[in-house]
Amino acid sequence: MPKSPAATLLLLEKTLAVVFPEHLASLSLTAVVSPEAYLTQTPAAGTITLADPELATLASYTLPKRRAQWLTGRICAKQATSEYLRRFVPQLPLPESRDIMIRNLPSGRPEIDSPLAAVRGLDLSISHSGGYAAALVSSSACGIDIQEDSETLPRISNRFCQAHEAEILQRHLPDHHPIPRLNLLWTAKEAARKAVGREKMPGFLELVLHRCEPTSDQYAMLVLRQDPCPPQPPRDLIILATRFAHFSLSVVLTNGGNAHA
Ligand SMILES: CC(C)(COP(=O)(O)OP(=O)(O)OC[C@H]1O[C@@H](n2cnc3c(N)ncnc32)[C@H](O)[C@@H]1OP(=O)(O)O)[C@@H](O)C(=O)NCCC(=O)NCCS
Repeated sequence: MPKSPAATLLLLEKTLAVVFPEHLASLSLTAVVSPEAYLTQTPAAGTITLADPELATLASYTLPKRRAQWLTGRICAKQATSEYLRRFVPQLPLPESRDIMIRNLPSGRPEIDSPLAAVRGLDLSISHSGGYAAALVSSSACGIDIQEDSETLPRISNRFCQAHEAEILQRHLPDHHPIPRLNLLWTAKEAARKAVGREKMPGFLELVLHRCEPTSDQYAMLVLRQDPCPPQPPRDLIILATRFAHFSLSVVLTNGGNAHA
């Protein structure tokens, strides 16, 4: 599995196009930015900037960890959106990053708020853990989850990992230690919940690991089956899962229609 965040990002960008050839998607993965350093910097060309309502939201957070993770999630979301437009809608002039506003629905789900029609139809997912944040933007419903390894995972594993799922992971990922292995499944399920949970998020045990293919030593492809079967397809969700340092990172793109249509 790749070691640096930059290598991880490159690997995911390359692999997404192979695993999900029909989807357009763009990713960002960044070390957490200090809000104080961010707010006192002199903006230069290419600096990601927040719109006034976003600055007000940042000011409303008092916990240092939440402030930093929230800010970095926004920076990642704007970076991923700009990159998506640059790659897939090159005929449009790139908007200012402050014109790509990120807001949360009452459920907490993030969405892109912009007067630009090209941006309005895109789905967005954000995640943060430890010293990193990540975002994924796609033309169809998507989810991303990053999670630092934690001693808590084995203790709560019965809440998200059934015995036969643990067996599948052990059989296909024998070189991983138990915590990283559990963490891959945790992030896979969190990413899937974000992708399909627009109306109602499925529980962890309603997403059942069906297959695990360690496609290379760099990443694994996990197939989660929704059980019970959802009213609308897809039933099976393909997850691209990888590791860097002591983090697991999972990404899912669904065949579900445009999440904001
Ligand atoms: C949402 C949830 C999956 C977040 O996972 P987490 O591992 O704790 O934290 P992460 O850092 O990975 O993700 C946080 C991000 O998830 C996104 N998020 C929050 N709620 C979401 C939702 N309902 N759907 C999709 N994404 C959501 C947000 O962008 C949030 O970051 P932000 O607040 O800085 O914008 C988890 O907290 C959860 O299960 N909450 C319950 C939400 C729920 O059931 N709501 C009712 C649905 S209608």
